[in-house]
Amino acid sequence: MCGIVGVTGSSQAASVLLEGLKRLEYRGYDSAGLAIARPGGPVVYKEEGKIRNLEARLDGEDLSGTCGIAHTRWATHGAPNQINAHPHLAGKVAVVHNGIIENHNALKVQLGKKGRIFRSETDTEVLAHLIDDFYKGDLVEAVQLALGVVEGAFGIAVIHSDEPDLIVGARKGSPLVVGVGDGVNYLASDVSAILEHTRQVIYLDDGEMVTLRPSGIATMNINNEAITKEIQEITWDLSQIQKGGFAHFMLKEIFEQPRTIRDSFRGRILPESGDVKLGGIQLTDWELRNIRRIIILACGTSFHAGLVGEYMLEEYAHIPVEVEYASEFRYRSPIIEAGTLCLVISQSGETIDTLEAMREAKRKGAKVLGITNVVGSTIARESECGVYIHAGPEIGVASTKAFTSQVTILGLITILLGRRGHINADRGTKMLRELDKIPDLVQQVLDHSDRIMEIAKVYAHHRNCLYLGRGVNFPIALEGALKLKEISYIHAEGYPAAEMKHGPIALIDPQMPVVVIATKDGSYDKIVGNVQEVRARSGKIISVVTEGDEEIAKLSDHVITIPDTMNFWMPLLSVVPLQLLAYHIAVLRGEDVDQPRNLAKAVTVE
Ligand code: AGP
Repeated sequence: MCGIVGVTGSSQAASVLLEGLKRLEYRGYDSAGLAIARPGGPVVYKEEGKIRNLEARLDGEDLSGTCGIAHTRWATHGAPNQINAHPHLAGKVAVVHNGIIENHNALKVQLGKKGRIFRSETDTEVLAHLIDDFYKGDLVEAVQLALGVVEGAFGIAVIHSDEPDLIVGARKGSPLVVGVGDGVNYLASDVSAILEHTRQVIYLDDGEMVTLRPSGIATMNINNEAITKEIQEITWDLSQIQKGGFAHFMLKEIFEQPRTIRDSFRGRILPESGDVKLGGIQLTDWELRNIRRIIILACGTSFHAGLVGEYMLEEYAHIPVEVEYASEFRYRSPIIEAGTLCLVISQSGETIDTLEAMREAKRKGAKVLGITNVVGSTIARESECGVYIHAGPEIGVASTKAFTSQVTILGLITILLGRRGHINADRGTKMLRELDKIPDLVQQVLDHSDRIMEIAKVYAHHRNCLYLGRGVNFPIALEGALKLKEISYIHAEGYPAAEMKHGPIALIDPQMPVVVIATKDGSYDKIVGNVQEVRARSGKIISVVTEGDEEIAKLSDHVITIPDTMNFWMPLLSVVPLQLLAYHIAVLRGEDVDQPRNLAKAVTVE
């Protein structure tokens, strides 16, 4: 997630901006920059990589100035490099921006026809030119006019050298907070950037704007109607703020999922035609229609997302799919025939096993499509085309929000392929309209977190756990088991429920908690039998069921209900209770949830 800092009225504006950016480093970023307002035009410094690279660039420069804006960038459009870093300049306007402007390409064409030249690949530079194009001496008006034609999500800070002590901020979908000082005022995407200067803050809501001058602050809506906002006192300390008030990054990221799932399909679905648009997939409709086989390459949680994708693609796109542990694939002699598409899934985009497996698949002639979260990562750069999941930086080592965003993207790819095959418009529309409801349904599951913690208290000190699921719930069982083992160090196994009688049933006893994902789907009656087998052996049953279920609930020791939805999207809901169960058990065991022992966020060594 990008970071924004602004200050006006400070004799040390540049150092306030730099210190503020450092407070935002925890959010993850790939470049940083700042702009200082000056009469002749804002002076802009920006560098790829860490803030220390920006500091080195600033060394010896004249940084005088009392008003400026700054930014740490998490790339969404355009590679992470110096040109694409913010602030972006157009004329005497400098802009920093969080979010995604969905119609930036169309706006870029219109502005290009007016002779405007673009240097970067970003949507933000388009916004800077748009504001400059509307500017007739009133920056607030120019920003309002520009935002009136922009579609998408944004949090922005804007300065103009003809109004040197003014910062204009606006919010729609990306947070902005105002810091109220005495003769100095601040703007940021996150309180942690300004906490050392003031604890008096104003949180902007969507559709709201703010003007900051040393003399004071004014808040209005995007239609320039004045609004009154309450000044709040911040009582948190810095470490709490960086986790958004959550105890751990992992919990924060679990609770971000309603937003991150929506961000993964934002601007990519066409419900009216039941189709999707994935700009990064440079394959023609003919190529899409002639895919004869799909191989999915991944590791860990990404591998489990791939297994969900297998069910999606085979059932709805009617294409044979194999999901391979990347570490095994790369050392086998895989057969790659014409018409083979490799989907390479990796949150970090740097996992060495996945990277080398992708290279092996390319060597043997497969078309390669990357599904990654980190823009400009090695896998993103080396795959011929790809889709970014837009989950924002995932800081907890145990992957949660990336998993649900990966599954969402696999669903969109399924619809893309299916609509060029067996899915008709009506079915595509139904699938996409249901997807649009998923973020709210995920929120309903998250609202049960306290109840799940009560269950965690019963099993926090058990030594083993078995996860069972059928059909698309089998990969969810695997993912739930991985979550538990990697942060609580309890031995947990995921198994196809039907497979239990071929061995694992020997493990069942009163000391063996069994988590059964038993949502209403085609194999529901079968899994009832599996639950009865566990019960007959005094196993302890924690079941994840669809709201209204009574049959399995009767047989279970603990029941977690989730809302009903299409089976196609059900994994996005059924995984969430398992993420929370693992989290609460690990916390009760006093383990280091965000940095579990022996694990790395990206396994870049063999
Ligand atoms: C998941 O919680 C683990 N941290 C791990 O299995 C991870 O999914 C795996 O290492 C793959 O990482 P990637 O998605 O960045 O390639």
